[in-house]
Amino acid sequence: MKTYRPHRDVSVLNDDLQVPGLGVLPINAFLIHAAEPVVVDTGVGLPDRDFLATLAEVIDPTDVRWIWLTHPDRDHTGGLFALLDAAPRARVVTTFIGAGIMSTERPLPMERVYLLNPGQTLNVGDRRLTGFRPPLFDNPATVGLFDMRSGVCFSSDCFGAPMATADLAQAENARAASPDELRAAQLLWASVDSPWIHNVDTSMFARSVQGIRAFNPTWIFSSHLPPATGDMTRLLDTLLEAPSADVFTGPDQAALEAMLREFEPV
Ligand SMILES: [Fe+2]
Ligand SMILES: [Fe+2]
Repeated sequence: MKTYRPHRDVSVLNDDLQVPGLGVLPINAFLIHAAEPVVVDTGVGLPDRDFLATLAEVIDPTDVRWIWLTHPDRDHTGGLFALLDAAPRARVVTTFIGAGIMSTERPLPMERVYLLNPGQTLNVGDRRLTGFRPPLFDNPATVGLFDMRSGVCFSSDCFGAPMATADLAQAENARAASPDELRAAQLLWASVDSPWIHNVDTSMFARSVQGIRAFNPTWIFSSHLPPATGDMTRLLDTLLEAPSADVFTGPDQAALEAMLREFEPV
């Protein structure tokens, strides 16, 4: 994992995973350097990752006050309990459904939970963070956030894009990929991660994209895309194409066996 600070108020904790056939998926968690510091998601839980040690590069973990869990998928919860232990004043921002999903594996301590629904705001001392439901999501607990002071948007899985190489997945700006590459990767991810997108009423869906557009974000920090800044028109317009993108079908058993044969020693 590596860390960098593309915005005065935001550090990125960047990781990635190779997904066979798709590319290299960036997996980002974030720190908002607010008066009451906010960690947004906590990475993957693989044994060779140390989320706390990575976080310690950008803040003393004991100072963390909020852990905004955009949703409880396993690429977002890896460091959650270690951070709760290390940050005694931190509370987990999630939804009723999010807390419920967590309770099927390891329950969150309820006195450290803060339930927040899309449309509600959280005061973190020097700014308010507003929860919103991103247009694309893969989990019913998903709540992204807008920082009303800096104009920064944290979109959870939405806008994700598997990259062609690890270098691109680790890039500090989405512009490292060409616009065409980015568009194709975003549409692939939309079909993989939000397969329901092919069944939606497109005008209703366009309205949900308009929600982010109206906010006019200065930056979009997605869990699965290098940070994006500048003109967001293209990123947002690509979402509008997602309902008619190619449907994704994963490899089946025959394809898996063919793949495995490629790895067999001669
Ligand atoms: Fe997810
Ligand atoms: Fe994710």
